[in-house]
Amino acid sequence: MAPAVSFLLGMMTLCVFFLAPATARSYNVSDYGAMPDGRTDAANPFLNAWAAACSSTEPAAIYVPAGRFLISQATFKGPCKNNATRIFVDGTLVAPSTYCAVPNWLLFMAVRGLSIFGGTIDGQGQAFWACRKAGRRCPQGAMSLTVAKSKKVLISGLTSLNSELFHIAIFGSSSIQIQGATISAPAHSPNTDGIHIQKSSDVTVIDTSIETGDDCISIGEGTTNVWIEKVSCGPGHGISIGSLGGTPSEAGVQNITVTWVAFSGTENGLRIKTWGKPYAGYVKGVNFAHATMDNVQFPIVVDQNYCPYNSSGIKISQVAYTDIQGSSATEVALKFDCSASNPCSEIMMHNINLTYQNNQALTYCKNAHGITSGVMKPPGCIEYEISVLGHGSGL
Ligand SMILES: *[C@@H]1O[C@H](CO)[C@@H](O)[C@H](O)[C@H]1NC(C)=O
Ligand SMILES: *[C@@H]1O[C@H](CO)[C@@H](O)[C@H](O)[C@H]1NC(C)=O
Ligand SMILES: *[C@@H]1O[C@H](CO)[C@@H](O)[C@H](O)[C@H]1NC(C)=O
Ligand SMILES: *[C@@H]1O[C@H](CO)[C@@H](O)[C@H](O)[C@H]1NC(C)=O
Ligand SMILES: *[C@@H]1O[C@H](CO)[C@@H](O)[C@H](O)[C@H]1NC(C)=O
Repeated sequence: MAPAVSFLLGMMTLCVFFLAPATARSYNVSDYGAMPDGRTDAANPFLNAWAAACSSTEPAAIYVPAGRFLISQATFKGPCKNNATRIFVDGTLVAPSTYCAVPNWLLFMAVRGLSIFGGTIDGQGQAFWACRKAGRRCPQGAMSLTVAKSKKVLISGLTSLNSELFHIAIFGSSSIQIQGATISAPAHSPNTDGIHIQKSSDVTVIDTSIETGDDCISIGEGTTNVWIEKVSCGPGHGISIGSLGGTPSEAGVQNITVTWVAFSGTENGLRIKTWGKPYAGYVKGVNFAHATMDNVQFPIVVDQNYCPYNSSGIKISQVAYTDIQGSSATEVALKFDCSASNPCSEIMMHNINLTYQNNQALTYCKNAHGITSGVMKPPGCIEYEISVLGHGSGL
């Protein structure tokens, strides 16, 4: 897209999203010496353009033209003097092919009111995965794009390729929107979660396509008000809440919606997993709706026996599954392996239609209570819980 057009579109989106005024100072990374040759480290030019934009008291626009920009590592720090910094990216940001020894390759820290439009980030994780596969001593690896301690961040139309570890990570942030992202890494790449969200609230992921080697989206402790809509996942390990309860005093997970998602050839579909450890915590108010499963190994799974014991201290309640259709690649399409000490409660299932090799699939339930209604294929095995009636949450 021509910069002028993408600029206009960006302004239009922003006027709706952040009501930003229409004047802006602009900063072009080329003017700060960034070379689009894929070889010369452009970290300092990028950071200098950021510093200038961030210290502008008016809304600021940073331009990254077409081409490949090698970035060794960059931490873009706030707070900025304005609440509306936009970055328009036509080019590709490339990580060093010899893996970096820092935990975050591109890090946005303590920013407020940032939008990133377009762009490709290429983590070049191949050497790092190979090192791990060979069982050698490897550096810890890097997440490609991390947003930490930030507010009001929009990431629109980003492509992320071959991250060493997570592609995108959101930590300790709120009002974060990811839309139109394309995330890609091979099925065999380890720990390359597509989007990881932790200790954050009001996070939206819309219109996003994810094929990767680990969870397409993972939701960690202390996360509330997440909305995931129109996401395709596969290959990958599905959309997961957890693992939770691995350490003491984790904050709960609440109000999570996952709707209109398509899973294809993934290991899991919709999953909640907790460690079988006694640490208290909770998952409450989850709405899984309108999902299609195409040859998914475990379409619906709650696993509270994720090593080493079978009595997790995490309480799972008010989880609704509505309109979940398609095929399971294993016999057990629906598995609730809940904690013996904290049974799952208020599970609500409505219109489930999952098959295994065109036949009826099986179910497995342990310590799971709730209600089912509408089509139930395979028949639900959760224990009927009259108290759910009247709650109606999610249905
Ligand atoms: C940024 O600078 C490059 C190199 O001079 C130029 O080709 C490009 O048009 C500039 N982009 C904008 C939006 O000014
Ligand atoms: C940014 O937004 C916050 C909260 O709305 C406000 O307090 C602050 O003054 C704003 N800063 C600027 C530079 O507009
Ligand atoms: C739940 O989260 C959604 C955003 O995903 C938000 O709109 C809604 O207000 C939240 N509900 C509550 C009760 O906080
Ligand atoms: C854990 O599972 C084992 C074997 O299934 C069972 O004997 C034991 O009672 C269980 N412990 C709890 C706390 O449920
Ligand atoms: C369940 O799905 C199968 C194939 O996916 C379809 O043929 C069947 O009509 C569906 N049943 C109901 C009750 O929706």
